[in-house]
Amino acid sequence: MLQSKIAGIGHYLPSQVVTNDDLAKVMDTTDEWIQERTGIQARRYGIKHEETTVTMGAEAAKLACERAGTTPEDIDFIIFATLSPDYYFPGCGVLMQRELGIAHKEVGALDIRNQCSGFVYALSIADQFVKTGMYKNILVVGSEMHSMGLDFSTRGRAVTVIFGDGAGAAVVQPSEDPNRGILTTKLHSNGTFAEKLAFINPGCHGGYHAKKQGEDTDFGYPPTSTYGEMFMTPRMMEQGMYYPNMEGQFVFKMAVQKFPEVIHEALDTAGLKTSDIDMFIPHQANLRISQFVQRQLGLRDDQVWNNIQHYGNTTAASIPIALCEAWEAGKVNPGDLVCLAAFGSGFTWASALIRW
Ligand code: UT7
Repeated sequence: MLQSKIAGIGHYLPSQVVTNDDLAKVMDTTDEWIQERTGIQARRYGIKHEETTVTMGAEAAKLACERAGTTPEDIDFIIFATLSPDYYFPGCGVLMQRELGIAHKEVGALDIRNQCSGFVYALSIADQFVKTGMYKNILVVGSEMHSMGLDFSTRGRAVTVIFGDGAGAAVVQPSEDPNRGILTTKLHSNGTFAEKLAFINPGCHGGYHAKKQGEDTDFGYPPTSTYGEMFMTPRMMEQGMYYPNMEGQFVFKMAVQKFPEVIHEALDTAGLKTSDIDMFIPHQANLRISQFVQRQLGLRDDQVWNNIQHYGNTTAASIPIALCEAWEAGKVNPGDLVCLAAFGSGFTWASALIRW
């Protein structure tokens, strides 16, 4: 069976730097609180109404293609992971195809909605398609424009201070060397905790939830009220129930349990040990989480790539951005064992082992 490899990787970070002190000007928070709890010093925000999830993703994609020695014209499939899409539908995959100027090629485009583990899920799908021989040049993108959907009042501070914008992309191709490439991927989810970290409204669940609360949800068919058409009641609008919500401590506890679990699962499948890992690229959710996992795995500081300090949590983009930076810094070299792992909303979690 064919082995797949990451042939080229690229990333894009918007130029607008937003520090913790900048956020403290609009909400009740401090640089000290944010750094102590998360390790974050600053994040990037895309330029409003000029940059989008797709435009940032396209920048990362062009670089990934160039480094893979290919052009967008050669891409035969697109997989796009995001939780902050340009449109509710259609998904970012087709928009990316158009943005790259390859719509005339009419290649397939798939959207992944797995939040923080979206990129690893996408990579795993690309790996399966290459292994079966179906595609030879798959563009995998993780991109987020969180800044357009955050609550910048004090009410939203626990979530807003964490997130940043950015994009990463990889081109996945067959590997000429059977000993190099993606060795294994592991994918998991547990929907029991879907609401622990979620962006629920607007959506058809809004009315369902409101009805359970005893609210008037009889909008009639076809719905006549604006709120009904948006699947949101007046109370939901007033209470700002159209922002992401997170039970931080619960998510934290699950993350520190699931990260090591899914990494060991991949290592077991590949017949490898933690001591074989050369570079660990964790999803950048919280520096404390990454440090905890690092200690569990017994890895040195120079074997883990952290950049959450500068970019915050960029969800589906965080792993490809970190991987790309590590590669650019000469920390990922041919023959190295690279371990990717992510945990987030869903809950979903995943890992990948790559012999670079
Ligand atoms: O990538 C997706 C996966 N996400 C994660 O893995 C996130 C996991 N969770 C976390 O990283 C942490 O739980 C947070 C960083 C989100 C929060 O840290 P925490 O230590 O769990 O704080 P907390 O939520 O327990 O809040 C402690 C206090 C509260 O005040 P009281 O109730 O003790 O008076 C919050 O209201 O801190 C308050 N607080 C803030 N204070 C200043 C919450 N956010 C802020 C803020 N600035 N930004």
